[in-house]
Formats: sequence, C-alpha cells, structure tokens
Amino acid sequence: MPHLAQHAYGATPQTVRSARDFAMRALDSWGGCGRRDDIRTCVSELAGNAVRHGTPNGHDYLLRLIQHPHCLHVEVHDSAPHSRVRIPPASPNGEAGRGMHIVQELGDDWGVRALTGTDKAVWVCFRRPESLIARCSCTS
Ligand SMILES: Nc1ncnc2c1ncn2[C@@H]1O[C@H](COP(=O)(O)OP(=O)(O)OP(=O)(O)O)[C@@H](O)[C@H]1O
Ligand SMILES: [Mg+2]
Repeated sequence: MPHLAQHAYGATPQTVRSARDFAMRALDSWGGCGRRDDIRTCVSELAGNAVRHGTPNGHDYLLRLIQHPHCLHVEVHDSAPHSRVRIPPASPNGEAGRGMHIVQELGDDWGVRALTGTDKAVWVCFRRPESLIARCSCTS
C-alpha cells in the first residue's frame, strides 16, 4: 500500500508553516526522500494558495501526501472552482503570480482535479531518485 498522510487546516496564513512542517515529518517518517527542499517549497505555495485564493467561504483546506515507490504525490484540496488555477504570464516586476511558476518548475508534473461541488485538488508530483526507490517499504 502507498503511504498516506493528510491533515486539515483552517484558512489562515499561520497554517502554511504547520502544513510545511507536517509534510516534512511525513517524509522523514517514510525514510527520507530526495528533493526535500523542492517539496517543502511546493507545499508552501499550494497551501498559501489555498488560504489566499481557495477558501472564499473560510472552510478548511486539506493537505495530502501519498508516497508511491516511484513518486511522491502532494495535493491540496480547497473549495474554490478549479478553473481559477492558472499560471499567470511572467511579469518580472509583479509582486505576485510566481507561486504556480515555482510549482511547475520544481515538480515533475502538476495539475488540478475537480472534486465534488466546487471543491478541487491542486497536485504536484515528484519522481523519486532511483537510489531511494529500493529503500521504500510501500508498493503500489
Ligand atoms: N487554490 C487556488 N484556488 C483558486 N485559484 C487559485 C488557486 N491557486 C492559484 N489560483 C489562481 O492562480 C493564480 C496564480 O497563482 P500563483 O500562486 O502563481 O500566484 P499568486 O498566489 O497570486 O501570487 P504568489 O504565489 O506569487 O504570492 C492566482 O492569482 C489565483 O488567481
Ligand atoms: Mg500563490
């Protein structure tokens, strides 16, 4: 079975740090993972987006990490329509609009999946280095 860790957070900026720390503890408990810094950065960006753009009704958002032998899948569920997630045109002087560029650059793949109602999951996955695959105790 793949490893699964998930946690729901209230829609406040302070939770982004908690979400980041939760993700790192999950990775550590699964025996470490390459690309720790990239994963931490993407968790921050996706959790920050859930707080800022994805929870207009103030509902919780959910962080989920799923460790498969060959990849780590990170997703954040929130309650704003999935069509709103976009990669804005690059703007060197803009003060915002960088988060999804970062996710796209650091992850191996990313996407948005509609859930029930207006809920959605924004996800990013990270392939595991070959050297770590043999050590993984999970099987898909
Ligand atoms: N979870 C989400 N729900 C709804 N819309 C989103 C979500 N995540 C991103 N978006 C939309 O996609 C746009 C791009 O997101 P991105 O993270 O790149 O920029 P930002 O959050 O506006 O700024 P930054 O991340 O640089 O502080 C956002 O401005 C927002 O309109
Ligand atoms: Mg953002």
